Amino acid sequence: MKKKLNIGLVGYGFMGRTHSNAYRKVGNFFDLKYEPVLKAVCARNEQNAKAFADTWGYQSVETDWRKLVQRDDIDVIDICTPNNTHAEIALAAAAAGKMILCEKPLSMNGPEGLKMVKAIEKAGVPNMVWYNYRRVPAVTMAKQLIDEGRLGRIFHYRAKFLQDWTISADLPQGGQALWRLDIKAAGSGVTGDLLAHCIDTAVWLNGSLEKVSAMTETFIKERTHTLTGKVEKVGIDDACTFMGRFNNGSLATFESTRYARGHKALYTLEINGEHASIAWDLHDLHRLQYFDHRDQSNLRGWRSIHVTDGDHPYMGKWWVPGLQIGYEHTFVHQVADFVEALGKRKPAAPTFRDALETQYVCDSVLKSAKTGRWEKVPKSK
Ligand SMILES: NC(=O)c1ccc[n+]([C@@H]2O[C@H](COP(=O)([O-])OP(=O)(O)OC[C@H]3O[C@@H](n4cnc5c(N)ncnc54)[C@H](O)[C@@H]3O)[C@@H](O)[C@H]2O)c1
Repeated sequence: MKKKLNIGLVGYGFMGRTHSNAYRKVGNFFDLKYEPVLKAVCARNEQNAKAFADTWGYQSVETDWRKLVQRDDIDVIDICTPNNTHAEIALAAAAAGKMILCEKPLSMNGPEGLKMVKAIEKAGVPNMVWYNYRRVPAVTMAKQLIDEGRLGRIFHYRAKFLQDWTISADLPQGGQALWRLDIKAAGSGVTGDLLAHCIDTAVWLNGSLEKVSAMTETFIKERTHTLTGKVEKVGIDDACTFMGRFNNGSLATFESTRYARGHKALYTLEINGEHASIAWDLHDLHRLQYFDHRDQSNLRGWRSIHVTDGDHPYMGKWWVPGLQIGYEHTFVHQVADFVEALGKRKPAAPTFRDALETQYVCDSVLKSAKTGRWEKVPKSK
């Protein structure tokens, strides 16, 4: 008989759905000692919360996360709400001794993130942040190849995350659907929303960033605020480009924007080493591009590896070789890894402390864009 892991979900939007789907599926594909149970979903609107609970199979609803956090029958608080709510919920959940899964970015800024890290470490509760792209099998495989030393000395890392959904000046800011455009709810624009993903993957694959030099732009300076009805200043960065230097001496370029017409969620990364290079593209997420200079010279070229075989990361748990999985599965993998690590010495990553490093890089990027200078990234560990 498996032990139950009672989930209390806060927020039922995009991420509320991806996580609920993962909790429901994980036990069918991974043999885990705990079974996630959809115990309660919390949303401010009771009717919406009930409809969500019916759709996904939650046993109960709450309309105030404070009540959810205090419930004895909840083991895990899963935070799927806008960025400005993460800290308050996580601090209360830690005080109540709950395990915490928190959406990214960890916090609104580094100092707030540090407070959260201190609280959960003091409480000694298992914790994790949903930087899910680490668990795309092709990206996990990139990590394995890099850790095996196949690339040799690393020279370059470059990443992009491009979208195009905020180009219209008529788009309002703030409120339920558009909180990402409101600095008070989001903390930053593309830096915390999109580049945070790129930074998390980069630090995981290539180690810590030592310093950064950035520029940001807000192309549309004023937008009507959904909640006040007034035209208000836009405080977020619409686009951000930065250079960086990793501790291992390699050079980085990162770019993100919501103004790249034609791109919806183009996350790409490339890493170039002395012997080999790796490239990956979210729009073709089951493929890993690999070039190895040590190949026989007349056969040398980029290999497009279809990461779907039983000996590829996570793939032995799914269908038969050659058949793909997709975006939703990254969340299933994350739940599986979190549950598997429970009770073990090495927690599933990224922990809150791991995610604090990304927060510090984001802070340094935004600071550099203001000062026009290179900024050192504070140490998080
Ligand atoms: N890991 C990823 O790839 C990824 C992708 C998208 C979003 N996110 C992150 O997930 C979080 C949520 O984003 P989303 O896209 O799901 O947003 P969303 O707007 O789709 O959903 C947010 C939900 O939070 C609810 N909410 C807001 N304040 C609340 C409160 N005080 N109490 C209870 N519920 C509240 C809203 O009603 C809504 O249901 C953000 O931090 C975002 O950065 C991560």
